[in-house]
Amino acid sequence: MGARKESFTITDNRTGKSWELPVLKGTMGPDVVDVRKFYADTGCFTYDPSFTSTAACESSITFIDGDAGLLLYRGYPIEQLAEQSDFMDVCYLLLYGELPTPVQKLKFEDDIMHHTMMHEKLRRFYDGFQMNAHPMAIMCGIVGALGAFYHDRIDITDPTYRMIASYRVLSKMPTIAAAAYKYSVGQPFIYPRNDLSYSANFLHMLFATPCEDYEVNPVLERAMDLILILHADHEQNASTSTVRMAGSTGTNPFAAVAAGIAALWGPAHGGANEAVLRMLDEIGTKDRIPEFIKRAKDPDDPFRLMGFGHRVYKNYDPRARIMQRTCNEVLDALNAKDEPLLELAMELEKIALEDEYFVKRKLYPNVDFYSGIIFRAMKIPVSMFTVMFAVARSIGWVAQWNEMITDPGMRIARPRQLFTGPLKRDFVPLDRRR
Ligand code: ACO
Repeated sequence: MGARKESFTITDNRTGKSWELPVLKGTMGPDVVDVRKFYADTGCFTYDPSFTSTAACESSITFIDGDAGLLLYRGYPIEQLAEQSDFMDVCYLLLYGELPTPVQKLKFEDDIMHHTMMHEKLRRFYDGFQMNAHPMAIMCGIVGALGAFYHDRIDITDPTYRMIASYRVLSKMPTIAAAAYKYSVGQPFIYPRNDLSYSANFLHMLFATPCEDYEVNPVLERAMDLILILHADHEQNASTSTVRMAGSTGTNPFAAVAAGIAALWGPAHGGANEAVLRMLDEIGTKDRIPEFIKRAKDPDDPFRLMGFGHRVYKNYDPRARIMQRTCNEVLDALNAKDEPLLELAMELEKIALEDEYFVKRKLYPNVDFYSGIIFRAMKIPVSMFTVMFAVARSIGWVAQWNEMITDPGMRIARPRQLFTGPLKRDFVPLDRRR
């Protein structure tokens, strides 16, 4: 006789009826109670509006243990990847599941770097935006429009098509992002240089001009690469779940990624790096920190300490630690160590980490707390910060989209609701409404 399958028994105390819910086990992380048949069996829905207790899919890409401060891409710790690999290695790993061999890596990098140009007609889309348009709005529009350019060849059931589309997203995101920046400052768009690394080319497109030579600073190139690695994927966060949800309808990957960009934009998610900088600017000087800490703790004040707290990390965000180190290196390399913003950020972090309110709620600096300071030192404008995040996360989005499409259990994602509106009632004609 085989071992008894693990399960939960749920009892309806109104009727005394019981049902058995199977327990599913992953390779790591909490077990999962399978409620897929719950509605069919019981006639009830489960209720979890912000998904705090819900595993929405099966995935083998990224693992997080929020209590241990652990982040693994396909099993590899983020610290090791940050130290020993580069962004192209990480992209291949996320997409294919294994680190590339030297030959695979050369081919992958070559393929990615030879699809960096955007269609010339796509460049004209930018003209439709106001110059002061937020670059994340431009990103949503242009990335979504990619679907119109590759429309004939869209067949998401074809694995070759899916890989080509994934490469296109990865290759063109820096070009689209850099053009959004150039448009906002009124400079000509800079064509990609395929002889540079992914990160160096991104910096080149952001900062070169046709009038003079631009040499990419290797410290900044490495810092950019590291930022891309740290943001590449993060399990089922809000934007990735949005990509999966949009993708589950069978829409094209460019539309799904555009939906992800829209979700990333919010200050509770990717928009936090921009919000951190705006907050630090608003605080201005160290002596004003207590005033802002007080506001963050006031339940009647909507102000939150941006760059603090995380839905999953309740110990520390391992990416924030690496980011803090990189921040110091970049400021050193740029002779900007006395950057008052860094001092302010460090003082704020120190005060918050000692404050009972933050300690009790396990609120620690997240990845965005330091990334903004690095971007500022690199002369990347504040409104572009979330765009940098979007470029990095595009690999996570396409990797998760590919995984979702190939999941044999994949169906359209269609949540239900707890309805609290009016009961059924008869229509009232206009002349009888009071
Ligand atoms: N400042 C002050 N208080 C906070 C903060 C903060 N940054 N974050 C959470 N809290 C408090 C809440 O008020 C709540 O207190 P209460 O229990 O007394 O009501 C408690 O901590 C729990 O917070 P929740 O909002 O329930 O936590 P949730 O998991 O829903 O939110 C989030 C996580 C959105 C990241 C939140 O911590 C936040 O808004 N942080 C600031 C924005 C930010 O930095 N976002 C980036 C996230 S990382 C990323 O996307 C890359």
